[in-house]
Amino acid sequence: MKLLFVASEAYPLVKTGGLGDVAYSLPLALHEENVDVRLLLPGYRTLLHKLESVRILGWLELQGMNRTHTVRLLESEHADFPFPLWIMDCPALFDRPGNPYLQPEGYDWADNAERFSVFARLAMELARDALQLGWTPDVVHAHDWQTGLVPAFLDTLPQRPKRVFTIHNLAYGGHFSHADFVGLHLPGYWWSAEGMEFYGGFSMLKAGIVYADAVTTVSPTYAKEICTPSFGYGMDGLLQSRNYKLHGILNGIETHVWNPANDPNLAAPYSHQQIEPGKRLNKAALLQRLGSANPQDHLAYPLLGMVSRLVEQKGVDLVINAIPDLLRQTDARFALIGAGHGYFEQRLRELAAHYPERVFVFVGYDEQLAHLLEAGADLFLMPSRFEPCGLNQMYSLHYGTPPVVFHTGGLADTVVDATQANLDNGTANGFVFYEPTTNALKGTLLRALEYFAHPTIWQALQMTGMQQDFGWKNSATQYLALYNKGETQ
Ligand code: ADP
Ligand code: GLC
Repeated sequence: MKLLFVASEAYPLVKTGGLGDVAYSLPLALHEENVDVRLLLPGYRTLLHKLESVRILGWLELQGMNRTHTVRLLESEHADFPFPLWIMDCPALFDRPGNPYLQPEGYDWADNAERFSVFARLAMELARDALQLGWTPDVVHAHDWQTGLVPAFLDTLPQRPKRVFTIHNLAYGGHFSHADFVGLHLPGYWWSAEGMEFYGGFSMLKAGIVYADAVTTVSPTYAKEICTPSFGYGMDGLLQSRNYKLHGILNGIETHVWNPANDPNLAAPYSHQQIEPGKRLNKAALLQRLGSANPQDHLAYPLLGMVSRLVEQKGVDLVINAIPDLLRQTDARFALIGAGHGYFEQRLRELAAHYPERVFVFVGYDEQLAHLLEAGADLFLMPSRFEPCGLNQMYSLHYGTPPVVFHTGGLADTVVDATQANLDNGTANGFVFYEPTTNALKGTLLRALEYFAHPTIWQALQMTGMQQDFGWKNSATQYLALYNKGETQ
């Protein structure tokens, strides 16, 4: 089977969140199942700098916003990928500083509609082997709004591969204007409620949902949630009507990158066979990295950690609001890592300044520090209001750091609450609360801290999480079954 995997980011070349992790791991897992993969990515400046050598496979003229672009397709071999990487080189659209989607000031790049529509056009051209490379995919798998036009462009081909579209987060719809639609020279008949028109503009995410043969999202619970008004961002009706082709497949985690037994980012390795003293050494190293003058003084107290994009989705405000009371009522310490909205960044800095002995903060993006936090914290905070899958709770389970989560999406599918019954039957691996409020979070954290004081119960929780299999093989098998399935329209 030949698979063209089209994504706007992939670890370790470029990553802003979980999509980057998935676009690395899933192709790898599929390659291990003998799928012949090409991973197509945009040639951002930082990404091109990470490639050692590239080969030019060809040039194409592609329609942009009232102009055309000459696009080069590059092929690269990279030590982390056992299959060819295909990179779209178009300096006018991608050779710039900053984040793939945002300007350094935090606003969307003004030409995102053009950038990602040209990228999608290239995917379509490659699917029909326009460069005559002798390679035509059986399946094209696209991800999130940035590649939502891929299934639509493929619709224009007389002979086309199977189109799979994965929603990683419905909150990002890729919404653009009618003027953009016209400027991009998209076929007029796509402008309808049955096409990609959406409340007077158009949505690239909707295009993906409408035109794909199969739509997946990244957990079974989120697949159900997005068909309801509370989680549907206006697309719940559309998704209900496409329920016949909607599937929830839980993400996995990359266990050779995230494994406490041989993680190079840790101060000391450990495993479920021997959690201590490794975990405690990592706790000391983490506190030191976060600027604590006396890490040893804190080791006896529970350390509550968080690594997160600082956006409303993640319930960061719930954590920020719960901290003052928790500091008064318990002996907990906090280690918080994140970047995102300036408001949340500022609130975290203020907390650290106000409670320098109890709250340790790093504002920024630091992959190594994220690993150390998973290992060094005692509890992991993930009170997301919605969470399509969530990888951090699985990392924390694997690192013996029981997560505290709101019951939603992939969090509901992976974290089993430490009720007496679940503790008795050995399934409990963390703590779950059922209302997305500061009080519910606080109450659950107080409950968790009581258990933390009982080493036997705590170790049982840690062991359950650490021994679970979150590897990608299971998910890859489900995707493969979907690729092979003849979808009924
Ligand atoms: P999302 O994709 O919605 O951000 P996930 O839990 O699926 O949520 O994935 C988040 C990924 O991004 C994880 O690999 C996590 O470690 C990483 N991450 C998020 N924020 C930071 C940060 N400030 N520094 C380092 N890694 C981060
Ligand atoms: C999105 C979601 C997150 C998911 C990730 C990878 O960023 O917010 O829940 O884990 O994609 O699928």
